[in-house]
Amino acid sequence: MHRQVDIQKLLRAMTIEEKAGQLLQLATFFYLSETEGEITGPLSDLGIAEDEVWRSGSVLGINNAEEMIAIQKKYLENSKHKIPLLFMADIVHGYRTIFPIPLAIGCSWNLEGAKKSAQVAAKEAALSGVHVTFSPMVDLVRDPRWGRVMEATGEDPYLNSAFAKAFVEGYQGDMTGEYDIAACVKHFAGYGAAEAGREYNTVDMSDRTLREYYLPAYKAALDAGCRMVMTSFNTVHGVPATGNKYLMREILRDEWGFDGVVISDWGAVGELLQHGVAKDSKDVAQKAIEASVDIEMMTSHYVQSLKKLVEDGTVSETLIDESVLRILKLKQELGLFENPYKVANLQKAQEAFLCEEHREAAREIATKSMVLLKNEGILPLDKNKKIAIVGPLADSGDILGAWAWQGKPEEAITLKQGIECKVGAQNISVAMGCTIDGIETEGFKEAIKIAQEADVVILALGEKSSMCGEAASRAFIKLPGIQEEFAKTILALEKPTVTVLLNGRPLEITELSTLTPALLEAWFPGTEGGNAIADILFGDSIPSGRLSMSFPYTVGQIPVYYNCYNTGRPQPNEDAEGYFSRYLDIPNAPLYPFGYGLSYTEFNYDNFTLSQEVLHEGETIKASVCIKNVGNRVGTETVQFYIKDEVGSTVRPLKELKGFRQVTLQPQEEKTVTFEITEEMLKYHNIKSDYVAEKGSFIAMVGKNAVEVLSLNFELA
Ligand code: BGC
Repeated sequence: MHRQVDIQKLLRAMTIEEKAGQLLQLATFFYLSETEGEITGPLSDLGIAEDEVWRSGSVLGINNAEEMIAIQKKYLENSKHKIPLLFMADIVHGYRTIFPIPLAIGCSWNLEGAKKSAQVAAKEAALSGVHVTFSPMVDLVRDPRWGRVMEATGEDPYLNSAFAKAFVEGYQGDMTGEYDIAACVKHFAGYGAAEAGREYNTVDMSDRTLREYYLPAYKAALDAGCRMVMTSFNTVHGVPATGNKYLMREILRDEWGFDGVVISDWGAVGELLQHGVAKDSKDVAQKAIEASVDIEMMTSHYVQSLKKLVEDGTVSETLIDESVLRILKLKQELGLFENPYKVANLQKAQEAFLCEEHREAAREIATKSMVLLKNEGILPLDKNKKIAIVGPLADSGDILGAWAWQGKPEEAITLKQGIECKVGAQNISVAMGCTIDGIETEGFKEAIKIAQEADVVILALGEKSSMCGEAASRAFIKLPGIQEEFAKTILALEKPTVTVLLNGRPLEITELSTLTPALLEAWFPGTEGGNAIADILFGDSIPSGRLSMSFPYTVGQIPVYYNCYNTGRPQPNEDAEGYFSRYLDIPNAPLYPFGYGLSYTEFNYDNFTLSQEVLHEGETIKASVCIKNVGNRVGTETVQFYIKDEVGSTVRPLKELKGFRQVTLQPQEEKTVTFEITEEMLKYHNIKSDYVAEKGSFIAMVGKNAVEVLSLNFELA
């Protein structure tokens, strides 16, 4: 328990300017620059005077422990009430030891690994002076054109919710441990549905869709105790999220009872002007504070206008007091009044960075995140063969993915380095062939030559980290540059070839997937990437990743996701022509569906049974299935459990994930896996918007992905 400060008393001692100051968040450079009374640069851009800096409440983007200590010290010397600054940063998939991107972690279906990644990130971050991380990002995503799909865990509300909880638990622990940091779930709400996948674009959806698909993961993070919420840049029901009372007063505060801190996204309070819902600074500040935004990140409408709004009676000071109290409470809970520097320590941080335990954790979850999409008997590879590694990512450290700002590409294990560790330098040759997005073909020759001389070819293709993440939407989602042409040239040699993809979004790889005999989606795998890929390729780890986001057949099919509705004219089979819901030129099905992924062994699903066919009030049905490893290697299967509501008062999804279990089986070993069906699981927002389970018939399904399932019917009585 930390030393308690009477925060009510502190609040009473504060002027309105000081209160507004607590609501202001500035980037580090505001505190470090020597302005000497002159208002220039960032200060003037933001329209604030220097003394506002010493009244601000929090900082974002801290770089290291030394910097944090210096800023906190200078601040405490300059500020009247000596309320310590709260330091926040985007620790999204690791601090210095970089983990796979969240989309990859989503494909691991491994909650323990996700939690561990957050614990490691929290430790390195806490030692570097960070108190709050702007993570987890739990936006549900269906559009791979959007660059930020890499930050999300995928297209499913149930899976996203499970990961939201795991990440929050990993970062926060019980909030009393020395390395526990507060989590900030983002971006509230619906940011993943930006129209046409274009960054910052409009989001417009029914309340039903918002509640059924998009909101559950934010709620799950809060149920796990997440201390902070960040608003999103987009509109919801025609109102920007950052000024949206319905979202934040009605849903977040009143319905869900969240009493933690709400922070705007970067500049999003000010963007109410561009959105055209506020006419001037006062209007902006009023809308944001009334919508319940506590901290304004990197614009200054609160410090400019709240005082005036209180003085002219437009805004009640109570609203501001509530926001200040929430912030002071968090500072108190984090123990900042007791020790404003907490565990920040440059030397200890450096000892923790990339230490063996952290690298090991990063390598393990990276192997579990990779998804084997195709394997015509090529994998695993034999360590005694001559290997050619070709392609722009053959020996690249640009495999960390976006939001790895403290990570260093030169510290990443490249694919070549990882393979070299397995087979020795004498057995490998490397040639890039081409760059990621260039159009020069000169390098093809060398790559062809080494491929011809080798027994096996590894083709390493993908994206640059900068092609994913914020402000990185792509209209074409094929491999950039001439990589596809290069791949075809190499594949035409008809050598045993495995294509490894290092990238941040589901790509359009339909043609490539037919040409290559083996295909591994390795994502941006982080610091230990090369080692993890090598573990998988040589069978030292068995691929167990399953897609958490569908791969479209082509970009024109987007959005394509498994938990969609039926239509009135479903196509009875892929070849059926006529007045059906279909395309003339492509199938309806994605290239690879949600839940899909291969292993080095095969699993058989058999004897699917339900303990009873009717579910009465208060009862549960046990759904059991026998899984057998029918191959001759050990393997981990992700057993997926889905339900379909056959008749509802509104249309219901074709199926919804309701549970999953990972089982590791030795060759020929079998195990019965059981899921429990409860009435709670069948609830949804019905035609009257009541969250209820409607009586009637349901289908329980179990399988290895969203398409290949066994089904049984049951009734809710
Ligand atoms: C992003 C957020 C991020 C914030 C602070 C924004 O541009 O949308 O995800 O947390 O910047 O860096």
